[in-house]
This record gives sequence, structure tokens and C-alpha cells, in this order.
Amino acid sequence: MKTFFLLANTPIPRDLPLPLPLPAWVLTICLVIFFLVHILFVNLMVGGTILVVITEWLGRQNKRWDHLSLAIAKTVTVNKSLAVVMGIGPLLCINLLYTLQWYSANALTGHAWLMIVPLVIVAFLLTYLHKYTWETWTTGRKKTLHQAISVLAMLLLLFIPLIFLSNINLMLFPSEWDKVRGFFSSLKIGNVLPRYLHFLAASIAMTGLFLAGWFGRASSDLSHLSDFTRPELRRIFYKITAYVTLLQFVFGPLLLFTLPAAGITPKLYVIIFSGAAIGLITLMLIFRELRRDDSRIGQSYPWICILFTFVVLGMGSGRHVYRQAALAGHQAQIQERTQEFASALADFNHQLAGQPAAAEPDASQLFINCAACHAPNTKLVGPPLTEIAQIYHGNPDGIVAWAMAPGKKRPELPQMPPFAHLGEANLRKIAEYMLEKGKAP
Ligand code: HEC
Repeated sequence: MKTFFLLANTPIPRDLPLPLPLPAWVLTICLVIFFLVHILFVNLMVGGTILVVITEWLGRQNKRWDHLSLAIAKTVTVNKSLAVVMGIGPLLCINLLYTLQWYSANALTGHAWLMIVPLVIVAFLLTYLHKYTWETWTTGRKKTLHQAISVLAMLLLLFIPLIFLSNINLMLFPSEWDKVRGFFSSLKIGNVLPRYLHFLAASIAMTGLFLAGWFGRASSDLSHLSDFTRPELRRIFYKITAYVTLLQFVFGPLLLFTLPAAGITPKLYVIIFSGAAIGLITLMLIFRELRRDDSRIGQSYPWICILFTFVVLGMGSGRHVYRQAALAGHQAQIQERTQEFASALADFNHQLAGQPAAAEPDASQLFINCAACHAPNTKLVGPPLTEIAQIYHGNPDGIVAWAMAPGKKRPELPQMPPFAHLGEANLRKIAEYMLEKGKAP
């Protein structure tokens, strides 16, 4: 058995000894792919709301930005719905593959975790309210209120991913579980902030790239954006992608160096650095596009998207490789405990099966059938044992006969139910027990 280094106070829960519904490698591939699809739309949603707030604010000076802001807002509501729907896949996979770590992290940040549901609902409603009041709340105070709504929606959509992120992060470090009490204390784990910055920058960069294509494609309707030319829009969003991606060369290493060493392996370095190298090439392509004149800008867009996909795949599998390595020790210990439990259970079942027959119950156990109504000295529902012992002194068979088919004697008491189902032999034991207990002291 391999030995792993884990802190002494790390909780090691035991798993259910049940098989997975699919081979683990299938679930792993599903997890990585589903997660990337989900996070793509999350990025577009978060980046989109940030750009909506900024462009609407610019729109107070120059109306053309306001029009652009609305056009972006229309993409946000769609991307937001897709982000939520696509989130189910990775949740299901992670539940199966990392049941105990995931459950533990959720339990530790319970309140914040549950808050996701109402927060998402409010954020949903706000983004729709914002979109549908655009044409009517156009001036003065109403416009200010309109902007405030989008700021609020943005803040919510920035906060919700932080809950997810702190949870996903917490699950990687079982050695922290006994220190963490709630969501805010889970934020203290050193790499949460760099992780969040990395995510935010990715969101804005992705959205820039998406919108460069969205508005840049020949089939897009720009009639509401007549103050912009198509190449101009391309340029604006390319620039956003390029400069924010440059920032990733700061946030990325920051994240890598604040990650607890537990999961850092040579394989991780290879994946992350090749991802970063492809990122650099992508960045050079974008800057080359920016230097092109209006008639040729956008030529490399498909290539940029393909390379970007590789960068994202690199980062996504890097995450997985880190998670695997960070949790290997914990997973192995859980396996061990689960195995121990499963074999103990098997032993126990064996013993049970090996025994000749269930031990016969003794008189005091059998008397439980009567104890609810008959106490030694006090009258409960029926007469006390002392009274019974007087009547049936030296005549246990009389008790048996009565209990098989009770009569009606005492007018103030209800009828006693029959106990023939216990059998004569058992009733005989009870009768002797009753006479013994009911003897006058
Ligand atoms: C649900 C309540 C209840 C349970 C349980 C109960 N009894 Fe009774 N028992 C009574 C009542 C009520 C009487 C009085 C009946 C009457 O006098 O009409 C009684 C009376 C008796 C008497 C006295 C009979 C007599 O001749 O005066 C005996 C003996 C007796 N029970 C035995 C048993 C035995 C043995 C059991 C368990 C196997 C038992 N009882 C379980 C309610 C109960």
C-alpha cells in the first residue's frame, strides 16, 4: 500500500461501497468537457455584464455606446441561461467522482452554498428587467436607476462564481476542513483570490473574443449600431481580449505559485506551460490583426479561436491533473476505510449466516408483550402482577388459557386482547415469570 502524507487532523470519511454507474475514466472525460462548456458560458455571462455596465456608463456621454451596451446585454441573458443549464453536467460528474470531498466542502460552506439559488434567481430577474426597460427608462433619474440595476446584477453575477470557486477550492484541501467554518473562512485559503482574478480576466478576455466574432461576422445586423463600423467593433473587442490576456501572464503565475504544493507535479507544469505558450502565440496573432487595415481585420479570427480552444483545454486539464494529485492521498485513505468497512460487513453477515438458529427469547424478553398493561405492583391498563399471582397461584396453565382467549371480568377495565399467536410454550414461560414476579414480598 502506498503511503501518502496527510495531516493528522484530516477527516477521512468512509465511502458507500457501491459501484459507479460508468467507468471512472468516462466520468472524468465528461467532467472536464462539461466543465469547460459550462465555464465558457459563465465567462461570457460575467464578462458580458461587466462590459454592459462600462458601455452603458460611456453611453451617458455618447449615445452610440448605449446602443452597443444594449446589443451586448441581449447576449448576456442567453449566455446566462446556457451557463446555468450547462452547469448541471459537471455537478453530476463531480458528485460521482469526488462524492465525499464535494459533499464536505458543500456542508462547510452550507449557507452561502444554498444562497446560490435565490441569488441566481434575483440576478436573472434583474438582467431581464434591465434589458426590457432599456427603451423606456432613457433619461434623468430613470436612466440612473437603469444603470443601478445593471450594476447590481453585475455584482451578483460576480459574487455567485466566488461561492462556487471557494467550494471547488475547499474540496481540494481536506487538511483545511477542520479550520474552515463557513464561506468567509473558506476564502482565507491562500490561492482563492488569485484563482478568482484568473477567472475574472478569463471572463473578460473570452467575452472580448466572442463579441469580436459576434459583431464582426458579416451576417450580424448592425442597423442599431450605425455609429460603429464593423471593423471598428472588431478592433474594440480584440483590444479588450489582448490586454486582458496580457494580465493573465501575471494572474496565471500568481495562481500557480499560491497553489498548495500538494497537487503540483511535473505533468502539471508541462500542461500549464504549453497552454501558456499557445496563449502567447494567440496573443501575437491578435496583435497582428490589430495592425491590419479595416479591409483585412478578422482574417485570422478562426485561427485565434482554435488556438484559444487549446489554451482553454490546457487550463481545464491542468485543473484536473492538479485535483487528481492533490486528492490522491485522501482518495486512497477513503478507499482503505471503505474497504475495511466492506470486509467487516461481509464478516458480520457471514457470522450471522453461520449461526444455527436465532437464540430463543427468554421469559423477561417475552414479557415485553404484556408489560405495557401489566406492572408488578401498580394497576396500568390491566391488573398488577401481584393481583394475578394471587388468583393464579400454582396455576400457570390458567394464565396461559386466559391469555389465549381472555374473558371479560372487571367492569371498570377494557377487554384484554388475545395472545394466542405467541404459542402455548411461550405463554407458559410468561405465566411462570408473572407468578414469580407477582409473589408477595
Ligand atoms: C392492551 C393491554 C393488555 C395487554 C398487552 C395484556 N393484558 Fe392482560 N389484562 C388486560 C386487562 C384490561 C385485563 C383485565 C380484563 C378484565 O378483567 O376483564 C387483563 C387481565 C389479565 C389477567 C387476569 C385475568 C383474570 O382472571 O383476572 C391475566 C392473567 C393477564 N391479563 C395476562 C396477560 C398476559 C400473559 C399478557 C401478555 C401475553 C397480557 N395479559 C397482556 C390488558 C392487557
